[in-house]
Amino acid sequence: MFFRQLFDEDTWTFTYFLADPVTQEAVIIDPVKEQIENYLNLINDMGVTLKYALETHVHADHITAGGLLRNHLGTQTGVGAACGAECADIQINSGDVFTFGENEHIKVIATPGHTPGSVSFYWRDRVFTGDSLFIGGCGRADFQGGDAGALYDGITTQLFTLPDETLVYPGHDYQGNEVSSIGQERRYNPRLVGKSRAEFIDLMNNLNLPNPKYIDQAVPANKVCGLDESERQDAIVKGQFGKTSSVASTATLVSEARHQIREISVDQALVEMQQLTNLVVIDVREEHEFVSGHIDGVIHVPRGVLEFKLQNINNLADKMTPVLLYCGSGARSALAAVAMQRLGYSKVMSLSGGYKAWSAQILQQ
Ligand SMILES: [Fe+2]
Repeated sequence: MFFRQLFDEDTWTFTYFLADPVTQEAVIIDPVKEQIENYLNLINDMGVTLKYALETHVHADHITAGGLLRNHLGTQTGVGAACGAECADIQINSGDVFTFGENEHIKVIATPGHTPGSVSFYWRDRVFTGDSLFIGGCGRADFQGGDAGALYDGITTQLFTLPDETLVYPGHDYQGNEVSSIGQERRYNPRLVGKSRAEFIDLMNNLNLPNPKYIDQAVPANKVCGLDESERQDAIVKGQFGKTSSVASTATLVSEARHQIREISVDQALVEMQQLTNLVVIDVREEHEFVSGHIDGVIHVPRGVLEFKLQNINNLADKMTPVLLYCGSGARSALAAVAMQRLGYSKVMSLSGGYKAWSAQILQQ
C-alpha cells in the first residue's frame, strides 16, 4: 500500500494520498486546488486511477481540488451530507464505507462540531481527523455553524474510543508536527485533558481568533467543489457536475424558492428603500461581481457565507428587521431569502431580476 502525506505551505493544509499498487486505485483526502498540478503529476507518475476525492468538511481556509480532479480524471467527489455541498457526487454519512484497491476500506466517523458536516476517515491503523482533532489541539468551532459541545462529544466519544495505537493524521498542523496517536492525544492534548465538557465549551468560545484569510472565497467555492464559473461550465458539459446540482435541478430549486418568498421589482425596491428606514440591503454576489458595480451603501455578504455572517450584521439580531437581498439576476437571492426565512427572519425580500434589472433601470435613467 502506498501512503503519502502532502502539505500545502500557504494554508498549512495536509492532504493524504492512498493508493493500492496492485489494482492501481487511489484515494485523495482534502486536496488543495493550488496543488492540482502536483497531484496530476503524482497520479500520472504512479499510473493509478483516482477513485475518490474525499473531504473531511467544507473548508474555510483553502479551496478544494475535488471538482478539478473530477473534471480531469472522472474522480468521484465526496463531502459530508450536512455540509451543504450539493455539487458532490456522494453525500457522505456516518458509517459509510469507501472501498478501493484489493481490499481497502475507509470508514466514515461523524465528528461534527468544527462544522456540522465534519467527518473523520478511519483507514487501517490510522484516522484522518480533518479539523476536528489536531495534534495537541483541535479545530475551532466559532464559525461555519460550529458547535464546541458537539466537537467535544465527537472527539471524546468517537475518536478517543479508537485503539490507542491508531495514528492521527490531522487536516492542519501549525507547529511542524506530522502525526500523532489516539493514545497520545487522549493523554496529553491540552485542549481536552482534565476538562469537562462545559470547560471545553468555555475555552473554545473565548479563543477570539481572526477569520481565516481565504474564508470569503473558500467556503462558497467549496460548496461547488472548488470550481470557478468556467470550470463549472466545463463540468456541466461533461455531465460531471454532481447529481443534485445540474442546471435543471438548480432551476427547479430557484422556481420553488420564488413561490416561498416575496419578490419585489426595482420600482417596489425604490419605494421600500425610501420608506423603511431600518431596511438592510445585502448584495449576495461574489467579490468580483460586487467590485464591478453595486447598489450604493449596501452590505456585501456572498451567498455561500451568508448564514455564517448574519450575526455580525447590525440590526439583524432582530429577526423582524426588513431585509432586501439581491444577486446578479434574482436566482441566488431567492435561495438566500428562503434560507433566511428558515432562520426566522420574517421580512425578507428578493430583488426580481437582481442587479441586472437594477442597473438597466436605474443606471440608464
Ligand atoms: Fe476547517
